[in-house]
Amino acid sequence: MDTRTVALTRDSIQEREALLERAGQEWADMFHSHSGARYAWDGIADFDEDLLVLESPDGKLLGALSFCTRNGDEKNIYVSRIGVILKRRGYGKRLMQEVSRIAAAGSQGIVALPTDEGRLLFRGIGMRTRPGGDPHQLDYTFTPDEAKAFAERPLEIPAPGGRAS
Ligand SMILES: CC(C)(COP(=O)(O)OP(=O)(O)OC[C@H]1O[C@@H](n2cnc3c(N)ncnc32)[C@H](O)[C@@H]1OP(=O)(O)O)[C@@H](O)C(=O)NCCC(=O)NCCS
Repeated sequence: MDTRTVALTRDSIQEREALLERAGQEWADMFHSHSGARYAWDGIADFDEDLLVLESPDGKLLGALSFCTRNGDEKNIYVSRIGVILKRRGYGKRLMQEVSRIAAAGSQGIVALPTDEGRLLFRGIGMRTRPGGDPHQLDYTFTPDEAKAFAERPLEIPAPGGRAS
């Protein structure tokens, strides 16, 4: 199944509000039980951050990634939240590839502070922990060159039904 990614900046307030309402409707049954839907929702709801949204070909919301550049560190894009509603279908990787394209365009690297599932994703796509980082709060990084290489890597599309998680 092919998917498409839509980028929305912090300034697109009306589009963000409409998207939030849509996510509330489409994911209403999932919020209590699905961590991916909650993370994606929190990302959409954070109007201080830029956003990537993943949609199915028939326009269903599949997930979201929110990101920003922090004051004092213009060299990196920070992934704040990422969540997908169907896991192990390559959707997280797809969102990470899209944010890597944005990073590559600005010669930036990527930093992500993970949950347990986030760690599996970030490690799985080749990000590494920052040398000398806090061992209790390891963040995962791509250098600008690594972000560019990942952005350009052809993605393998998992078989229908995804992989067992
Ligand atoms: C983290 C999350 C976004 C990953 O998205 P996903 O679409 O399931 O991940 P993908 O299918 O793109 O996986 C890409 C790679 O990451 C690794 N990976 C991801 N999830 C994994 C898991 N549960 N077990 C083992 N490896 C995993 C694998 O290397 C995988 O590649 P492969 O499928 O070729 O083996 C998703 O699990 C999620 O929404 N979790 C809940 C919210 C959350 O914790 N977000 C992280 C905040 S930092």
